[in-house]
Amino acid sequence: MMKAIVITEPGGPEVLQVQEVNLPQIGELDVRIEVKAAGVNRPDVFQRKGNYPAPPGVDPRIPGLEVAGVIVEKGKDVTEWNIGDRVCALVAGGGYAAYVKVFNGHCLPIPDGLSFEEAASLPETVFTVWDNVFRRGQLKAGEHFLVHGGAGGIGSTAIQLGALFGAEVYTTISSSEKADFCQSLGSIKAINYKHQDFENELKFLGVDVILDSIGGSYFEKNINVLNPDGRLIYINAMDGAKVTLNLLKLMQKRIRLTGSTLRARDQEFKQVLRNEIWINVWPKLTAGNFKPNLFQVLPFTDAPEAHRLMEDSSLLGKIVLRF
Ligand SMILES: NC(=O)c1ccc[n+]([C@@H]2O[C@H](COP(=O)([O-])OP(=O)(O)OC[C@H]3O[C@@H](n4cnc5c(N)ncnc54)[C@H](OP(=O)(O)O)[C@@H]3O)[C@@H](O)[C@H]2O)c1
Repeated sequence: MMKAIVITEPGGPEVLQVQEVNLPQIGELDVRIEVKAAGVNRPDVFQRKGNYPAPPGVDPRIPGLEVAGVIVEKGKDVTEWNIGDRVCALVAGGGYAAYVKVFNGHCLPIPDGLSFEEAASLPETVFTVWDNVFRRGQLKAGEHFLVHGGAGGIGSTAIQLGALFGAEVYTTISSSEKADFCQSLGSIKAINYKHQDFENELKFLGVDVILDSIGGSYFEKNINVLNPDGRLIYINAMDGAKVTLNLLKLMQKRIRLTGSTLRARDQEFKQVLRNEIWINVWPKLTAGNFKPNLFQVLPFTDAPEAHRLMEDSSLLGKIVLRF
C-alpha cells in the first residue's frame, strides 16, 4: 500500500484527501518511481471538479500529470534506465502519490543542479508547449508569438521557450505583477486584458503564432491580429468552445487553425515528444538558459491548499507538491 491524494468526490479543494491505496503494478516496459515531488496543473482542478475524466487505464481518483523522483523498480525490458536514476516524467494521471508507474519512454533525466521540485514542474508544460508551439505552430526565430495567459504554468513555459528559440513574444495578463513576471521571462510586451484590448494593441504589428486556452470572445480577435500564413493553436476554450469563423479571413490570410489535447495521446506519440524535448529543450535547461518557475512548494498533505492557490488569480508560474 502507499499514500496518495484521492479525489473522494467531485467538488471543491476539500475533496482531496490523503488515503492508502494499492501500489501500482509495473509492466515489462515500465518503471516505478518513488515520487519526491509532483507538479500541479490547471487540468488537475478540472479533474477534481469532475469535468476532465482520466483516460482509460488510468486511476481516475488520483490527479497529477507530472512527477519527479527516483526509479526504484524497472520492468525486465527497460534498458534506458537504472534503479536509483533521478528522473522526471509525464504521466496521464496518478502523480499525487508516493509511487507511480510510468512507461520508460516518458521519463527524462533530471539535470545536475535541478531539485526534484523544479524538475516536477516541467513535463506537462514542456510537452504541451513543444507539441503545440513548435510542432503544430512551427514557430520560427524572428516571428511574433502571442501567448494568452502568460503568467500561468503553460504561459510562462511558452514565453521562455518562444524567446529562447528567437521569437518576439507578446502576452496577455491581468496585473502589473504578472506583466513584470512575463517580461522577466522574455516577453517584450505584456497586455493587461482587464484594461486593454489585445487586438488594438497588436493589429498593426501582426502576430505569426498564437497559443490560446481562452477561446470564446478571443477567437475573432485572434483571427484579426494574425499575419498572413499565421497559426492559431488551441489547447483549451475556457471562455467558450463555440465560435463563429469568417472563412474569407481564413482564406485571405491562409491561416492555419489547429489544437490538441496531450493527455489522451498514445504512448508512442508521447515518446516521440519526449525524445525531441530531450534533444532540443534539455540542453537549454542544463545550460541554465531555461529555468523552472516555482511559485510555491507545499507538502503533499496540503494538496487542497495547492488547488485553492491554483484557482486564485495571483499565481506566477507553477505550484509543486513535495512528498
Ligand atoms: N491541451 C492540452 O494538452 C493542455 C495541457 C495542459 C494544459 N492545458 C490547458 O492550458 C490552460 C493553462 O493551463 P495552466 O496549467 O498553465 O493553468 P494556469 O497556471 O492556471 O494558467 C492559466 C492562465 O490564464 C490566465 N487567464 C485567465 N483568463 C484569461 C483571459 N481571459 N485572458 C488571458 N489570460 C487569462 C490566468 O491568469 P488571470 O486569471 O490572472 O488572467 C492564468 O495565468 C488550461 O486551460 C489547461 O486546461 C491544455
